[in-house]
Amino acid sequence: MRSGDEDVTIGPYDPTTDAGATFAVYQAAIRRTAAKDYTPEQIEAWLGRRGGDLTGWGAARARARTLVARAGTGDVVGFTDLLPDGLVDMLFVHPDAGGRGVARALLTAVAAEARARGLRELRTFASRTAQPVFERLGFTVWADRPDNTARGVVVPNAEMRCTLGPT
Ligand SMILES: CC(C)(COP(=O)(O)OP(=O)(O)OC[C@H]1O[C@@H](n2cnc3c(N)ncnc32)[C@H](O)[C@@H]1OP(=O)(O)O)[C@@H](O)C(=O)NCCC(=O)NCCS
Repeated sequence: MRSGDEDVTIGPYDPTTDAGATFAVYQAAIRRTAAKDYTPEQIEAWLGRRGGDLTGWGAARARARTLVARAGTGDVVGFTDLLPDGLVDMLFVHPDAGGRGVARALLTAVAAEARARGLRELRTFASRTAQPVFERLGFTVWADRPDNTARGVVVPNAEMRCTLGPT
């Protein structure tokens, strides 16, 4: 696949270099892309109050077996993950790289990894922004969650699932 003029490759999260880059993608994706579907109060509640110390963030990304999308320059343009029970907890693409198939490439890699681990199903809690993208990529809504809260603020999302076929 291609992103702009550069090839994008999917690979493992590198704990020595990728904490800051994935956090920057996370913030930009929520603040710029998801902001069209949520109020400023919801956006801040979703982001949480994270300071400059990325130790906890990096440890969580490493634990979740994060996959990273890199442009030809080496810049991280997106990331996702796969927890042992089949939960895709994170899917974020930098707005400057959006709409070019990065999320599709990341989820295709996750599905391959899940099959290799013997999982039969993926699930996620999709934001309103990501819901049509997950639908396009084979997920269906399992339970809408209009009352989901983050840090005491209602931030609606939906639990979505995808059955994994043999290939
Ligand atoms: C959701 C997000 C990850 C999508 O990333 P992306 O790289 O722009 O998505 P892609 O370009 O790979 O699109 C994947 C598919 O969804 C389709 N799609 C994208 N937006 C769509 C929309 N609004 N409605 C319907 N289909 C859509 C694309 O056409 C593509 O399908 P195709 O390959 O058959 O053409 C990105 O917008 C993002 O980070 N959003 C903000 C953060 C967020 O909400 N993350 C999810 C947390 S649960």
